[in-house]
Amino acid sequence: MGNVIILNFKTYEESTGDKGLKLAKICEEVAEETGAEIIVAAQLSDIYRISQVVKIPVYAQHIDNIKYGSSTGHVLAEAAKAAGATGSLINHSELRLKLADIEANVEKLLGLSMTSVVCTNNVNTTKAAAALKPDYVAIEPPELIGSGISVSKAQPDIISGSVEAAKKVNPQIRVLCGAGISTGEDVRKAVELGACGVLLASGVIKAKDPRAVLMDLVEGV
Ligand code: G3P
Repeated sequence: MGNVIILNFKTYEESTGDKGLKLAKICEEVAEETGAEIIVAAQLSDIYRISQVVKIPVYAQHIDNIKYGSSTGHVLAEAAKAAGATGSLINHSELRLKLADIEANVEKLLGLSMTSVVCTNNVNTTKAAAALKPDYVAIEPPELIGSGISVSKAQPDIISGSVEAAKKVNPQIRVLCGAGISTGEDVRKAVELGACGVLLASGVIKAKDPRAVLMDLVEGV
């Protein structure tokens, strides 16, 4: 398995609705041209429209620990899958969950043959998340999210420390990192520190030329 770039569309205007579809097409073009693995984590309401058009993987940004039935306004993993999602972020810094829900969500995704990416905020939580056996853990120091200051430059130890701690409890685990990533150099540094790729958002989504940024990013992966 190669290294990956996951682009979290969040709820930015530039990645919502038709604009999100356009951005996903750019990600697909860059993936096809370069051979890089690029995944988009779209808003729930855009998963179907995007997955109908592009061939790159589309993930959900969140799922709730619920079953089919009497829940209103929640995200059912089965529904995300039916819409075309092949994986999901879990416990993103902007939508934290309880430990029991994180574990249930990892199991739910496994049962649906979907990829799980559990987000964490420090070395200890990364270690704890790795013990739940998701496909990926993604360490993102919250204070650097959206800051333009790259985790791989500002806090290299949190990446290497997370990789080391996570592998101790789960040698199969794949560790991603994110927050402030915007250049190929940031990605290269993250990979040197043991990450299997990055999870990012604003560096691409808020860029004047997202395609150019993506082309630079894939250089580092
Ligand atoms: O999920 C990715 C994210 O939280 C990092 O955001 O804007 O710093 O790349 P950003």
